[in-house]
Amino acid sequence: MNTIEQYIRDVQDFPKEGIQFKDITTLLQDPKGINDCLTNLLNLLEDKKIDKVVGMESRGFFFGTLLAQKLNAGFVPVRKPGKLPYKSISESYELEYGTDNLEIHIDSIKKGEKVLVHDDVLATGGTAEAVKKLVERLGGEIVQFNFIMQLDFLNGKEKLKGYNVQSVLNY
Ligand code: PRP
Ligand code: MG
Repeated sequence: MNTIEQYIRDVQDFPKEGIQFKDITTLLQDPKGINDCLTNLLNLLEDKKIDKVVGMESRGFFFGTLLAQKLNAGFVPVRKPGKLPYKSISESYELEYGTDNLEIHIDSIKKGEKVLVHDDVLATGGTAEAVKKLVERLGGEIVQFNFIMQLDFLNGKEKLKGYNVQSVLNY
């Protein structure tokens, strides 16, 4: 068992019946959990020359800023609609029922900057694919997609074909 697996709590039937939710709040409660997870995420990265870490609201914020600090990079939040105050661009993505949008500030990434995209979970890949489009529209170069866990049975990786997609845990 990977050392961080012990910190993650399985919650049955959340957010609805039949789903087993991987809860990272138990990991976040424990300073050793935070530290081990951060070390594992950093170890996924061969080339540590990163200009910006992009994290998606909201669970991508927890480790996104910690990674940025360790990598001596800036942090860029991707947010849900209407939350960013400055000029932004938007991409839609599929939810189970309907679609939603994600937004990024137009001045948050400069052309050619090296970007690490971080989130807690890769599930269907819809979220990550929307972030990929946002980053590339701004001219960012995605070095890696970096997740705490990947739910392999949902095939999210298919949406990120041709990219370096890494995670600490696979389920
Ligand atoms: C969850 C999770 C990922 C995304 C993965 O976020 O934190 O961001 O879903 O799903 P996908 O690969 O199928 O797109 P959610 O939208 O539930 O919001 P939260 O981070 O604010 O909890
Ligand atoms: Mg999320």
